[in-house]
Formats: sequence, C-alpha cells, structure tokens
Amino acid sequence: MLAIIGGTGLTEMPGLDIVGHFSSETPLGTASNGVTHGRLNGRDVLFIARHGHPHKLPPHRINYRANLWALKQAGATRVVGVNAVGGIDPLLAPGTLVVPDQLVDYTHDREATFFDGRFKPLKHIDFSWPYSAGLREALLQAGRDQGLSVVDGGIYGATQGPRLETAAEISRLARDGCTLVGMTGMPEAALARELALEYACLSLVVNPAAGVTDAEITMAEIEAALEGAMVQARGLLEHLLVC
Ligand code: HPA
Repeated sequence: MLAIIGGTGLTEMPGLDIVGHFSSETPLGTASNGVTHGRLNGRDVLFIARHGHPHKLPPHRINYRANLWALKQAGATRVVGVNAVGGIDPLLAPGTLVVPDQLVDYTHDREATFFDGRFKPLKHIDFSWPYSAGLREALLQAGRDQGLSVVDGGIYGATQGPRLETAAEISRLARDGCTLVGMTGMPEAALARELALEYACLSLVVNPAAGVTDAEITMAEIEAALEGAMVQARGLLEHLLVC
C-alpha cells in the first residue's frame, strides 16, 4: 500500500474517504500523528503529517523512526516523502517539482537508525542509491501523465535546521554537488530502507537557497510558492494512486 508523508503545507489529504486511524504510539515512541488510512478513487492510501497536525514539530524534533514504524505497521510498502526545499541550482526556481535521485546528509543528533543495539542482527543497508528507482519512475510518470514538468534527479542536501543556512554553507553544499536543500530528507530515507520500504521524495522548491540571489528569504515568499506547488503535487499524488 502507498503511504504519503506530508511535509510543510501538506498536513492533511482532503478528499480521502476515511477508512480508519492508527495510533501514533509505537515501540519507538510517539509518531508525529496517528496514521490515517483513507481511500481515494477506490484506492487505499496511508497518510501521516510529518510535522504533526496542526504543524507543531520542527525538523530536528520529529520522531522519524516512529513515523516510519507506524506506516509499516499500518501496511505501507511504498512511501512518498513530500518536502519543501530551497533551490541551490539556480535553474530550480520556486514552484519547481523535483524527484531527487541522491542525497548528502548534514544532519546530526537525530535518531537515525533502527540498528542501535535493540534490533538484531545489525544490518548495514546498501544506501548507494537512497531512493527506490521504481517509485521515482512512478512519480515521474504520474507527473508526465498530468502534463506537469517535474525535474528528474537532483542531489538533496539534508541540513539540521530549523534555521536556514548561511550563504557560505550553501556554497559548500553546491561544491559537494547538492542541487536542493531541505531539513527533513534524512534520516527518513535511510530508516525507510532499513524497514525495506520503497521510498522516494517529491520535493517542492519554495525559495532560492541562501546566497543564490541577493534577496532575503522570507516566510511569506516560501508560503506563496508552497501554495502553488502543492496544488500540482496533490494532483500528481492523486494520479500516482490510480496508476
Ligand atoms: N533550506 C533548508 N530547508 C528548506 C529551505 C532552505 O532554503 N527551504 C525550504 N526548506
């Protein structure tokens, strides 16, 4: 079953026929929210709001392990993480949708593995290609079917937040090859892999990253870009469900 982790701007999925709710309590602690089991056009889907509903958890306080665990327990096999990002590549203007194919992790002090001694045997997951090729292609195809222009590939730099980056930090990320920057892409992707869930990201560019333009980054600008891109993202996700 497909699961969606809604990021900033996607705290609920209107239009779902609600089948049920799963508790937010897990052996790894409390998830951001209970998992909603819904049906859209006759297809089952699971949904969780990454920051809680209403939005309450900053990126570094999210219990990513509990969220992934709750989705797996509810029957998820494929997970799409939706997230707002800053564009490092100047071609990735606000409003652009991207399906990244790589990431670099700059986060710290987050519970980033299930294999911390409690779950055995220890598995060193292969993370060479952090996103599921099949699910990435399904997202891109859903975008094509909807007539949307979705960028195929990008390197997601996962930063700690909640502050935005300095211009020098973004220059460093650019030198590392990152084309996008966000705060929630990790450890979500690695935890999904540890649970053998197919996982891919749908990233919505909501601002040029720090120093990419001379302008200050404002929440008003981010919110305006998010609103527009989210309409497209919702359409894409609804189509993904029926294909
Ligand atoms: N940096 C990090 N995370 C973000 C940004 C950004 O510029 N925009 C949206 N999420």
